[in-house]
Amino acid sequence: MKFFLDTANIKEIREGQQMGVLDGVTTNPSLVAKEGRAFKETVLEICEVVQGPVSVEVTATDLEGMLEQGRAYAKWNRHVVVKLPTTREGVKSCKALTQEGIKVNMTLCFSATQALLVAKAGATYVSPFVGRLDDISSNGITLVQEIVHIYKNYAYSTQVLAASLRHPMHVVEAALAGAHVGTMPFKVLEMMFHHPLTDLGLEKFAKDWEKANLKDLEKAMK
Ligand code: E4P
Repeated sequence: MKFFLDTANIKEIREGQQMGVLDGVTTNPSLVAKEGRAFKETVLEICEVVQGPVSVEVTATDLEGMLEQGRAYAKWNRHVVVKLPTTREGVKSCKALTQEGIKVNMTLCFSATQALLVAKAGATYVSPFVGRLDDISSNGITLVQEIVHIYKNYAYSTQVLAASLRHPMHVVEAALAGAHVGTMPFKVLEMMFHHPLTDLGLEKFAKDWEKANLKDLEKAMK
């Protein structure tokens, strides 16, 4: 499973990169706006750090506008993946842009029917929003399972990018469902490292070692 960070915060992305487990980044207009920095400059810096797929979302909702923005973003950096909404116009744009060799991430996907449409239109990624479905008493992970199943049935090449993951169990469940990618906020990635038994175990090892007072560690290291 690939791990993407769902953020436009360069400090978090640098830290994620240093952890050695980061494969890419997803952004959206809300996340970019939160940083209060120039849009293109932010995207270019993220691409430079990640050296992997970086989803950049269009703000236009009409076909022409989406095509214009998508083509422009794709020229900024080879790592840019154009993020389009899963609407009728979005699917049309997806078809056109993928035919031009531009990678596309179809966002705001909330149903298996939408996922089928974007796969047929050649999307590189589909983003089912797990947390936002859970928020309305629906089951986000069930949708991920359905999409993975349907794509396998027809050997679609579109990758399932589980999005709107709000906690580590969402990541585990998306992985169990077979999602190719999970995108998560930095705090969720951090939470995945922690286990109380790891901390307790380390503490005990350190105490036992100190008690034994062995003097030969430095020597053994040479
Ligand atoms: C994905 O690409 C979206 O940016 C993101 O996962 C949305 O998450 P949220 O529902 O927590 O805002």
